Amino acid sequence: MNAALPDTTARVSISLAERSYPILIGPSLLVAASSFAHLPSAAAALVVSNTTVAPLYAPSLVDALKSHYPKVHLVTLPDGEAHKTWPTLQLIFDALLENFCDRKTVLFALGGGVVGDMTGFAAASYMRGVPYVQVPTTLLAQVDSSVGGKTAINHPLGKNMIGAFYQPVRVICDLDVLKTLPPRELSAGLAEVIKYGPIFDMDFLDWIERHLDALLAREPQALEHAIRRSCEIKAEVVGQDERESGLRAILNFGHTFGHAIESGLGYGQWLHGEAVGCGMVMAARLSQRLGLIDAGFVERLTRLILHAGLPVVAPRLADFDNVARYLELMKIDKKAEGGEIRFVVLEEPGRAAVRAAPEALVREVIEASCQ
Ligand code: NAD
Ligand code: GLY
Repeated sequence: MNAALPDTTARVSISLAERSYPILIGPSLLVAASSFAHLPSAAAALVVSNTTVAPLYAPSLVDALKSHYPKVHLVTLPDGEAHKTWPTLQLIFDALLENFCDRKTVLFALGGGVVGDMTGFAAASYMRGVPYVQVPTTLLAQVDSSVGGKTAINHPLGKNMIGAFYQPVRVICDLDVLKTLPPRELSAGLAEVIKYGPIFDMDFLDWIERHLDALLAREPQALEHAIRRSCEIKAEVVGQDERESGLRAILNFGHTFGHAIESGLGYGQWLHGEAVGCGMVMAARLSQRLGLIDAGFVERLTRLILHAGLPVVAPRLADFDNVARYLELMKIDKKAEGGEIRFVVLEEPGRAAVRAAPEALVREVIEASCQ
């Protein structure tokens, strides 16, 4: 596979013994037959996409796959976070069964994180597990959700609460597809790129600050570097802690506050990346109140998030007792233990950890952060 790939393709490896796989990053990968070489063979492939992405990219992917699979089916899901649900998941199973897909069928997730998370979950459970390939088409999905094997759907009471760890067999990040991404979605993806700096790599944070305008202008070299470095960091973390028994939780920096914003406002009101951006400001403020980092770093991170086009003022989630509503929502979080909310905090710039925090401090942060 490697030899025939265009020489503009970068490759990052996820090392997980027999579940290891490559992430390919570069232009024109969706139309290059070599991107799909040496995948598991099967009588059929099923491309899962949505009503926005399928008209743009499904014909190219289906064409490319036709030289590898005798039959290539397509299922088109409704678009949006509000559709990351059981009934939408069922549409994937319907397509698999209606087309008599057997247990070797390979699924291809063509879309952003919503399509990727649902396709992965369907792959984990159809006939107790079939292979799947991630073909992420948003920046957010290329730098985060397509990598690492977390799959899920939402529950009205909590985000990503129902799912499985199930690794793809390959991730194919075609840089060209980012050209059609709406600017708001580009900014949402930058939230997850920025995240890797304060939790893991301050040199990368410096680089993002220097190249933010180039990223916002979608300069290919800047995007390629941001995606590759993000994937390298995620690969390192997931390689050490695939099922989040410890270290991997740092990738949820900003997510405890962010998930409360997403479910509290109703899925899809704020984009996931927007909620994470604002959530990182809140988590940094909490870290400062815990005496771990100084105000200067909180300001620096807030400026960067704002400059990336992301919100830094949190929404009110209830008219009467806004803080109580945040606290209630944050209790439904996969990091919570015995009803105690736990947060990813910065122990210092570049190093994160998970810990509980005194409720009084959390209250202060919510009050100081909401409009
Ligand atoms: P998304 O999947 O909703 O995609 C954003 C929007 O962009 C959608 O309307 C989509 O149709 C559209 N779109 C996608 N690609 C496009 C393209 N190339 N051109 C034009 N439009 C395009 O959102 P997202 O930000 O990609 O993903 C967010 C989801 O990912 C959330 O559900 C979140 O929970 C999940 N997530 C999962 C993980 C994980 O580890 N599994 C990590 C981070 C986020
Ligand atoms: N996005 C968080 C994780 O993959 O662990």
